[in-house]
Amino acid sequence: MGLLNLLSTNRNENLFLPAHGRGNSLPKNIKTLLRLRPGIWDLPELFEIGGPLISEGAIAESQKSSAYEVGVDRCWYGVNGATGLLQSSLLALAHPGQAVLMPRNIHKSCIQACLFGGLTPLLFDVPYLTDRGHASVMDRKWLQRVLKKAKEYEDDIAAVVLVNPTYQGYSADMESLIKEIHSHSLPVLVDEAHGAYLISQIRPDLPKSAISFGADLVVHSLHKSASGLVQSAVLWSQGDKVDPFKIERAIELLQTSSPSSLLLASCESSIKELLESKGIKKLRLCIEEAEMLKDFLIKNEVPLLKNSDPLKIILHTSKFGLSGIEVDKSFIRKRMIGELAEPGTLTFCLGLSSHKRLGKRFVRIWNEILKACGKQKPCFFKRPPFGIVSKPYKSYSDSWGSNFEKVNLKDAIGRISVEMVCPYPPGIPLLIPGEILDEARVDWLIEQKSFWPEQISDFVRVIS
Ligand SMILES: Cc1ncc(COP(=O)(O)O)c(C=O)c1O
Repeated sequence: MGLLNLLSTNRNENLFLPAHGRGNSLPKNIKTLLRLRPGIWDLPELFEIGGPLISEGAIAESQKSSAYEVGVDRCWYGVNGATGLLQSSLLALAHPGQAVLMPRNIHKSCIQACLFGGLTPLLFDVPYLTDRGHASVMDRKWLQRVLKKAKEYEDDIAAVVLVNPTYQGYSADMESLIKEIHSHSLPVLVDEAHGAYLISQIRPDLPKSAISFGADLVVHSLHKSASGLVQSAVLWSQGDKVDPFKIERAIELLQTSSPSSLLLASCESSIKELLESKGIKKLRLCIEEAEMLKDFLIKNEVPLLKNSDPLKIILHTSKFGLSGIEVDKSFIRKRMIGELAEPGTLTFCLGLSSHKRLGKRFVRIWNEILKACGKQKPCFFKRPPFGIVSKPYKSYSDSWGSNFEKVNLKDAIGRISVEMVCPYPPGIPLLIPGEILDEARVDWLIEQKSFWPEQISDFVRVIS
């Protein structure tokens, strides 16, 4: 089937992102716009429209109004996803030669920004859940240990990055983490790609956006956690730790010179929806429906894992010795398409549309899979062999420019990687350029290769 055919048919149960569910829950005004004469909305940065970096025009007004309503100083809409705005944020936070402290479960875009910005990624370990193979969230004590160790490695740390909620929807006590980082006079960037809808604050038992705890910069992927079109995103900034000039300079470096007005309109309307009563009502209904669905699945003995994001269902496949990657294939054959297949789990994203008849069908498919595979013993995952904080042996730019050769993973002990080993999704690197492959890392990568057979190669490129 060709691309256009694939785009115009829909025979599946869509449990993946974007959260608008193949248009079902796009904001009304975007649906209306898309029904007009095809292409009428495809405009450049005309005088009246402007752009994210232009101080006058409809987009400047819209950004001002969104920032005001959310209670921050400034915001910028983005047309290259959270990726583009996270990268711009890092370039604004640190100058070449400085280090940025990031968790091991960081999205690859932040590591890549270190190449553009000449930054050193200081990577810190995070708690790990061996029963499912997921990075978990840290508490303040853990962070204190990290900051102490990081200062022994590097005296020029410019900022700290946190990821919250995680892809699977785990959430930390952000208030205490942000307080701790600020007590060291460091700015904090929060990758809240999966948490845009938290700005609606619909219920006190749900996590709050890091914005409300004073995070200096927060990035939302509006297609992942609001009703935006793919690539729509927003960067929020508050306080005086990061100069807006530096943010704009960095956005200008990475953003296309022709940002799509359709995507910018989608940024505006997906944010407005999170702040207006109709949109909040729609979100509340989705969350209530999702919670009922989870209860139904649990009552019917589907093994779900707890998280803090009601719109994400984590199926715990390794509880029965099954790989989430293989179980995903079985769900796909039944036309139920999940979002994130991993060795121990399969995460489904309900998004912002209704899935009223999903429960029974889900239980039936899961029971068929269990019957076909047979329940096996639970499988557990080894903790990754990361130190509490580690610094690559060589900088990204040095390894980028080095001559390299391809060697078998098992022969790579003692060598320095020039590549990123990174199953996608989730897009969390297991190895980054410039890191040394010691014996423990090689053994672990070989084991990971057995879990992600189609995503991790037997070979790795290392400096020759
Ligand atoms: C935690 C996290 N941050 C950032 C991104 C990048 O988001 P986008 O696809 O909007 O560029 C992703 C994408 O999967 C992600 O999971």
